[in-house]
Amino acid sequence: MPMPLQCRTFLVTPALDPTRFDKAEEVGADLGLLDLEDGVPQALKSEARRLAIAHLSGSRMRGPMCLRINSLRTEAGLRDVLALLESDARPDAVMLPKVESPAELQQLDALLGARFPELSLLGIIETARGVEAVDSIAMATPRLRGLIFGAADLSAQLGVPLSWESMLYARSRIAIAAAIAGVNAIDSPFFDLVDLAELEDETRRVCALGYTGKIVIHPDQVRVVHTALRPTSQMVAHARRVLAQASEGKGGIQVVGGSMIGPPLVTVARRVLATAQFEEVLAPVVLRAGVRNGDP
Ligand code: GLV
Ligand code: MG
Repeated sequence: MPMPLQCRTFLVTPALDPTRFDKAEEVGADLGLLDLEDGVPQALKSEARRLAIAHLSGSRMRGPMCLRINSLRTEAGLRDVLALLESDARPDAVMLPKVESPAELQQLDALLGARFPELSLLGIIETARGVEAVDSIAMATPRLRGLIFGAADLSAQLGVPLSWESMLYARSRIAIAAAIAGVNAIDSPFFDLVDLAELEDETRRVCALGYTGKIVIHPDQVRVVHTALRPTSQMVAHARRVLAQASEGKGGIQVVGGSMIGPPLVTVARRVLATAQFEEVLAPVVLRAGVRNGDP
C-alpha cells in the first residue's frame, strides 16, 4: 500500500511489546512506527527485530505501518535490512535515522527497491552533517517521501538545550529542502508527555514553517497534533473569499477583507482549502477509532 498522501502523525512504539503494535490504528494516528533504533537497548535489538518482522509479515497487521531501522553505518542497521530482505514483511515505509548523505538513502533504495516496489522511504535529519547535506539528501531518490527532523539527537550532538530558538535554524532548513524536493517535512516528537497545550503551540509553529506532520510518542498527543494542523474556520473562510474573488478577477492584485492579495496568496489559499478538504475526505477513513468524536 503506498503511503497515504498526507501523514500527520506517526505514533512510535519500541518494537518490544507486540500488544502495543496496533496502537496507532486504535487511537487514530495516521501511521504506526515500530522502532528498532533508539527505543530498543542494544542487547534487545535482535529480539525487537524478530517481533517487528513477525508483526509486519502477519495477517493481523492493522493500518499503515512504518519501520524505523538502525543507521546503515551500524551493524544493527545492516542486520535490519537483511532481516527485511529475508522476510515476508510488508511495511508501508522504512525510516532511516541519522542520514548524513544521499548515498545512504540510495543504498537503502537499491537494496530494498526490487523486493518492495511499493515501499516509501523516510529519512531523519538529526546530525550537524545531515543538516548541512539536507538539500542533496532530500533529492536522493524518488522513493523518499519525507524528511523527519530529529531534535533530540541534534541538540545532544550540538550540546545545546532542546529549545525552539536553538532548533529553529535546522527546522527551517529542513522544511525548505523538503519543499524544493517536493517531499513531506515531518517534525520531531514533543517530549513532554503532560503539557498538551505546549505541544499544540509547537505544532502550530512548525506548521507555519512548512511541516505537515509530527512524530508522536503518546496516544494523547495524536488528537492535539491533528487539531493544531487543521486550518481554522477563519482561515478556510478567508481562503474561500480569496479564491472566489480571484476567479472573478483577471489575476494580478486584488483587495480581500482589507488585505492586498496577489498570486502567491492565491496559492496559499488553495493550499489551505486542500488541507481542509483532506481532513474532511480522508480523516474519517484514516481515523476509524472514532477518537475525533469529541473534536471541535
Ligand atoms: C528523533 O529521533 C530525535 O532524535 O529527535
Ligand atoms: Mg533520534
